[in-house]
Amino acid sequence: MILPIYLYGQPILRKIAHDIDQDYPKLKELIDNMFETMYNADGVGLAAPQIGLDIRLFVVDLEPLAEDEPKYNGFKKVFINPQIIEQTGEIISLQEGCLSIPGINENVLREETIRIKYLDENFEEKDEVYSDFFARCIQHEYDHIEGKLFIDKISGIRKQLIKSKLNNMIKGRV
Ligand code: NI
Repeated sequence: MILPIYLYGQPILRKIAHDIDQDYPKLKELIDNMFETMYNADGVGLAAPQIGLDIRLFVVDLEPLAEDEPKYNGFKKVFINPQIIEQTGEIISLQEGCLSIPGINENVLREETIRIKYLDENFEEKDEVYSDFFARCIQHEYDHIEGKLFIDKISGIRKQLIKSKLNNMIKGRV
């Protein structure tokens, strides 16, 4: 089932999400729906707050990028209760977009490498290190469960330039 995506201006996107346990109702169905919603919107990542839930859960599938970069092949993952425990390496600027902020793409500075602990869809504990676009995408989604958006990280000048677009989004004119 395709779920409605919450857009910029909606308070859920600014809440710090909380951990869930294995008893969370209909979790498998929720995860399936999140993937379906993400694919339908041509996204490569989707976090629970974007569909109105303040829980620490996000999904990523980099398959659409595999055509140009085979290393992204099969990178379909569910992150439950994640904690980024290390961010290292060079600070890299790369253009990002977000399904909750349609029509806006801006360069964002992020660390090159992260170490993340999380539970997968079977609640198995993982402790992994990711670099380049894997790390980029995970950091973007992770921000969502911390109540942060990529536009928080762009320069004041750039923010000024997109202000009217953002204001229109708040007023529901997208
Ligand atoms: Ni996003």
